[in-house]
Amino acid sequence: MRIAMIGGGYVGLVSGACFAELGNDVAVVESDPPKLASLRAGRIPIYEPGLDTLVADNARAGRLTFGDDIAAAVAGVEAVFIAVGTPTRRGDGHADLSYVYAAVEQVARVLTGYAVVVTKSTVPVGTGHRIRDILKEVRPDLEVDVASNPEFLREGSAIGDFMRPDRVVIGVETDRAREVLRALYRPLYLIEAPILFTALETAELIKYAANSFLAMKVTFINEMADLCERAGADVHDLARGIGLDGRIGRKFLHPGPGFGGSCFPKDTLAMVRIAQDYGAPSRLIEAVVAVNDARKASMAARIITAAGGAVRGKTVAVLGLTFKPETDDMRDAPSIPIVGRLVEDGAAVRAFDPEGMEQARPLLPPSVIYCRDALDAAAGADLLIVVTEWNEFRAIDPGRLRETMRGDLVVDLRNLYEPAAMRASGLKYQSIGRL
Ligand SMILES: NC(=O)c1ccc[n+]([C@@H]2O[C@H](COP(=O)([O-])OP(=O)(O)OC[C@H]3O[C@@H](n4cnc5c(N)ncnc54)[C@H](O)[C@@H]3O)[C@@H](O)[C@H]2O)c1
Repeated sequence: MRIAMIGGGYVGLVSGACFAELGNDVAVVESDPPKLASLRAGRIPIYEPGLDTLVADNARAGRLTFGDDIAAAVAGVEAVFIAVGTPTRRGDGHADLSYVYAAVEQVARVLTGYAVVVTKSTVPVGTGHRIRDILKEVRPDLEVDVASNPEFLREGSAIGDFMRPDRVVIGVETDRAREVLRALYRPLYLIEAPILFTALETAELIKYAANSFLAMKVTFINEMADLCERAGADVHDLARGIGLDGRIGRKFLHPGPGFGGSCFPKDTLAMVRIAQDYGAPSRLIEAVVAVNDARKASMAARIITAAGGAVRGKTVAVLGLTFKPETDDMRDAPSIPIVGRLVEDGAAVRAFDPEGMEQARPLLPPSVIYCRDALDAAAGADLLIVVTEWNEFRAIDPGRLRETMRGDLVVDLRNLYEPAAMRASGLKYQSIGRL
């Protein structure tokens, strides 16, 4: 099948490459000139394991092309996917749909025949209907259907998530659109991925409901971690103790500095607004947003307290900057407020992240020193903090860490290390929700 993907960012690039890998002809349209130039030159603008090979293989086979000419991309396609950003609108928490609507208008102007216009972007319930109206206004002559196909891939394991999804959700209004999307997803259906056809509105809501639920789980275990610290309990044992109950499940019960990233913060905020707009406010999700914001803001204070009440004149090593491992994505990363506050309070920061330092640079204070590796960051540091749980940090020898650092304090916001082993090496070790 021939399809077009509008937006060559995380979702557009990964899903475009995966659809091509399944044998489709995919034209990716990217409007950002440097990003497009990079894609055309075979350079992948984001770090995602396996993506460079997947893109190169499919581009070489002629199934995956990159361009900025929407008319050429949509000529003869059966489906046009909209995979542009839906960031938080400045000031009010709603999703900013201006990129989505602009893309739909551009597509509408140049479509030559029937196609399904599918939102892969995360969009509030009701957006599909607005898209249908725009298509009608711009091209009353056109036969076209609208569908919602939210994307559930996780950065860091995006290709596996796309190719072997827990489920595919497709919201449609007509049999014709259903058949186009069923045919496109047939290869995944053959490997028994459940494909759920729903109403348009339901598909749009499923994505926000899923992310809000996961964000709620993270927030819950973070609060339990605080309680464990006060009560002398261990949050990992607690997480196992509740997670082994099949009704609760073990995933997303790992405590940390609060959720960040390109999706949870903006999607929970948008869900709060959507629920209010429809007169069914969600006090639960409102609380998740407030608790998480407070947690992120309090992490630097926690570090400063651990350091004896002040960091002025101290050197702080920061391991990990991205919002999670296996990505270079810095959007809403907890490291941003933490490092900002430490520098503001007079600390000298030496940071290392395996993939995210280039992206971090414009977001962190200019005084931050970027290091070669974890031990280089630790060299001469008075204290060390772990902000992102990259695998390569797990195997650090605590004895070498102690020798490399000037001080002896490690504040581990991801619980990477065994407290006993750290303490046996002469380090003062603080983690989350454990003694
Ligand atoms: N990143 C994730 O892990 C993830 C997962 C699931 C869903 N989503 C959702 O998918 C959507 C896209 O997210 P992303 O992370 O890929 O964003 P992104 O910012 O990485 O990519 C969006 C791309 O669209 C391009 N673009 C914008 N308008 C365009 C236009 N008119 N024509 C061509 N290109 C255009 C931008 O230049 C950008 O490269 C969002 O709604 C997001 O919530 C993201």
